[in-house]
Amino acid sequence: MPSSQRQILVTSALPYANGPIHLGHLVEYLQTDIWVRFQKMRGHECIYVCANDAHGTPIMLRARADGLSPEKLIAQVHKEHDRDFADFLVKFDNFYTTHSDENRELSTAIYSKLNESGYIDRRTITQAYDPEKEMFLPDRFIRGECPRCGAKDQYGDNCEVCGATYSPTELIDPVSTISGASPIERESEHLFFKLSEFSGFLKDWTHAGHLQESVANKLNEWLEQGLQDWDISRDAPYFGFEIPDEPGKYFYVWLDAPVGYMASFKNLCDRTELDFDHFWQADSTTELYHFIGKDIINFHCLFWPAILEGAGYRKPTNVFVHGFLTVNGNKMSKSRGTFIMARTYLNHLRPEYLRYYYAAKLGSGVEDIDLNLKDFQARVNSDLVGKVVNIASRCAGFISKKFAGELSAVIHQPELLQQFAEASNKIASLYEAREFSRAIREIMALADLANQYIDENKPWVLAREQGHEQDVQDICSMGLNLFRILIIYLKPVLPTMATSAEGFLNISALTWQDSQHALTSHSINRFKPLMTRIETAAIEAIIEESTATLETDNMSEEEMMTETETITKNPLSTDPISDEISFDDFVKLDLRIAKIVRAQHVEGADKLLQLTLDLGGETREVFAGIKSAYRPEDLEGRLTVMVANLAPRKMRFGLSEGMVLAAGPGGNELFILEPDEGAEPGMRVK
Ligand code: 2FM
Ligand code: ZN
Repeated sequence: MPSSQRQILVTSALPYANGPIHLGHLVEYLQTDIWVRFQKMRGHECIYVCANDAHGTPIMLRARADGLSPEKLIAQVHKEHDRDFADFLVKFDNFYTTHSDENRELSTAIYSKLNESGYIDRRTITQAYDPEKEMFLPDRFIRGECPRCGAKDQYGDNCEVCGATYSPTELIDPVSTISGASPIERESEHLFFKLSEFSGFLKDWTHAGHLQESVANKLNEWLEQGLQDWDISRDAPYFGFEIPDEPGKYFYVWLDAPVGYMASFKNLCDRTELDFDHFWQADSTTELYHFIGKDIINFHCLFWPAILEGAGYRKPTNVFVHGFLTVNGNKMSKSRGTFIMARTYLNHLRPEYLRYYYAAKLGSGVEDIDLNLKDFQARVNSDLVGKVVNIASRCAGFISKKFAGELSAVIHQPELLQQFAEASNKIASLYEAREFSRAIREIMALADLANQYIDENKPWVLAREQGHEQDVQDICSMGLNLFRILIIYLKPVLPTMATSAEGFLNISALTWQDSQHALTSHSINRFKPLMTRIETAAIEAIIEESTATLETDNMSEEEMMTETETITKNPLSTDPISDEISFDDFVKLDLRIAKIVRAQHVEGADKLLQLTLDLGGETREVFAGIKSAYRPEDLEGRLTVMVANLAPRKMRFGLSEGMVLAAGPGGNELFILEPDEGAEPGMRVK
């Protein structure tokens, strides 16, 4: 191993195994993948592992609702995730699952070590219990009135209206979102990790210069408030690993999830020459980086390093935190069609457009990034198609047609080539520091220079004149050499385009070091277009497909997917008036007065109610996302307005045969529209 070669282990947060990958997730996987590909191109040993996060109550309930075993559900989701990642060119060295033998062994060993060292405590706690489903309820599965401001239908752990945080036992009139029953209080003994004993260690670790400043400041606040011990056990029924010698008790999903990083790596080591201990022993000389979103800092920068310290393992070299994704300036929204699944995007566009756009927006900070769809299209078309690919297409034809594919023996403008080669260090430090947007700016400035060079030398004019053959060959060869260096710098972001360019240039896989020399007297292959423009129709199709599949499913996927205790939400959102429609479009809507004859909870859905509607003789079943504003019994007998000619849509919970009209301020609350006296079921609304 050359002395300058680094050994680096990299992870991205483990996606939950009960839902599809969306463009929000991809910010992280693409950021990590670009960084890893960059390190590999530089010749370092850089291993990228990840896994599905397969345990926890939401997965157990989702499997039940789908009539599957949890194992079957996670196996299905695993296949989808594998495909989505591969198609977005996210190249893990291993993508595993936390529901594995390796993870069971490592989690158990770590727990036993912590227990033997006196870091595990037992305490009896009182928790909300669903008497119908006979299970303890995670905070997210309880809703009720906020004990501070009285707002209705708030989560079990925080109020979206006044921002209060509390324990679910403090909620007024709490309801289990699983059964609709009132939870009772029940005692149970739980195991706690004594996080408070690691305060001193964590104060040092968080100030040792590893972390981004804003992250260190946030951790400071928590450390100054004083750390609470951490409940790491859950009672049956639970989908996870049973704790040794504690029948009926399971590790909380957040205990075995980060151990899943180790377990995925262990699984890889067992199949390769890699040495697990070399990477994980307390005094390891290797580097370890976790890429995560800003919502899970506490798990990665407090609990996880403390567990590693307590169990005698190395700590992360750094935790790289990024912000969230907004689309067109707003939180991703199902009704606007901007809650876009990876697969929906891939049905219409190639992955590298998005890889490029995210790279062009990403910095090393925790700020959110915005995917503005118009800007996305304009930027990709102008930078990649208009600038980079254009260089090759302007030069390649002359070389193939007039010079039998042979590049010149000389470099036409050595200073310009030198300038391109010298940019290597600066661009590399920007990639290294995750300042991708700045790296892209540098690269595009070089692309502008290359186009300017071709504009000034006008090979197409010289080609028509006698006696300039050599000039044409030299200029076009120079242009292709500049193009080749740009491709090297873009390769971490655009791996497939780089492979096509390597094919066209007839060269082996480019490494970073290749930026330091040029191609002379070399024969290239015929040029084929490397990338085409993004058409508006493709973006419209993505929005349409996202609206069609998700609009009526008002229960947020995200909400079902997480069992994390703290939820941060922005209840404020503005909804601009939509584009105009014609009168003819309007009259297509068949709006009818409907009587709600029955309203009921939907198992597993925390926003939906199932409504049975009478349309004056005809009955319809409709799922409506209005649970937060109403108790079902209060709706029965009331009149409302429905879209009666909407094609029935299959939702996870059944067929929805229309839609009721409701209005709300954004966030969760929606209020149904009710007609004035005199209206009868079945009447047409005009
Ligand atoms: O927040 C999440 O999506 C979790 N599934 C991330 C787990 S990361 C790790 F710690 F395992
Ligand atoms: Zn409140």
